[in-house]
Amino acid sequence: MGWEPDRYLQFADERLRPAQDLLARVPLPALARVVDLGCGPGNVTALLARRWPQAKLTGVDASAAMLERARRALPEARFEQADIRHWTPADAPELIFSNAALHWLDDHPSLFPRLLSRLAPGGVLAVQMPGNFDAPSHRLIRELAASPAWADRLAGARMGAVLEMPAYHRLLAPHCRHLSLWESTYWQTLGGPTPVLDWLRGTTLLPYLTPLPADEQARLLAELAPQLAAAYPPDAGGSTLFPFRRIFLVAAR
Ligand SMILES: C[S@@+](CC[C@H](N)C(=O)[O-])C[C@H]1O[C@@H](n2cnc3c(N)ncnc32)[C@H](O)[C@@H]1O
Repeated sequence: MGWEPDRYLQFADERLRPAQDLLARVPLPALARVVDLGCGPGNVTALLARRWPQAKLTGVDASAAMLERARRALPEARFEQADIRHWTPADAPELIFSNAALHWLDDHPSLFPRLLSRLAPGGVLAVQMPGNFDAPSHRLIRELAASPAWADRLAGARMGAVLEMPAYHRLLAPHCRHLSLWESTYWQTLGGPTPVLDWLRGTTLLPYLTPLPADEQARLLAELAPQLAAAYPPDAGGSTLFPFRRIFLVAAR
């Protein structure tokens, strides 16, 4: 997928806030080895570096463009290009932190217990993922992609998914000494003429745009833009409310 760090970082503050909220719930005072799984452009990795300056910090991501940005942002950390589906740490970390990445992977029933098993004894898996796949923004994308004009080219595109919260409890609780699960809806106030479209172009829309040539991408975006504007109208001052539910888990082995 064609991740573009600049586009993703257009909403850097809003995208960082759930990572800060997750980090606040990690109960480990001192750490030797920390992994940022699906580290993207490294802004969350930088949060981890500030919290545990003595730790050996490794960011893992599949995207060369994201890793290039992360290496520039944080030269003191180690970054590794790898697919999380096949990733195994050389030394078991005490913390695996993953913000807004694991929803891109399938098969959570095997992925989550596997990640937990990669931790050092007493270690923590801390994860945040979007939990808004039924929001109008996401439904509109799926409906457009399934419409006759696009279905033949976009049949294979998918925006990721998460399980219902009780499923994560069932998967992880038997292997944990402590498990904390929660959700938050961030009532984001965005500015600009097409803020929801701009937000989605940085992430959710990527699998739908990547298979298309530039002119077709523009046509897809032109069809989607008015639908999103109708679902998320700006207020009198020009701000657009874009509520975003996110799910969190902190699992201590
Ligand atoms: C939305 S970004 C989140 C980046 C960062 N964690 C943050 O919170 O800003 C998702 C990242 O997950 C990475 N990713 C998605 N699927 C992956 C996979 N199977 N293996 C490795 N990285 C993956 C993408 O390359 C992308 O950089």
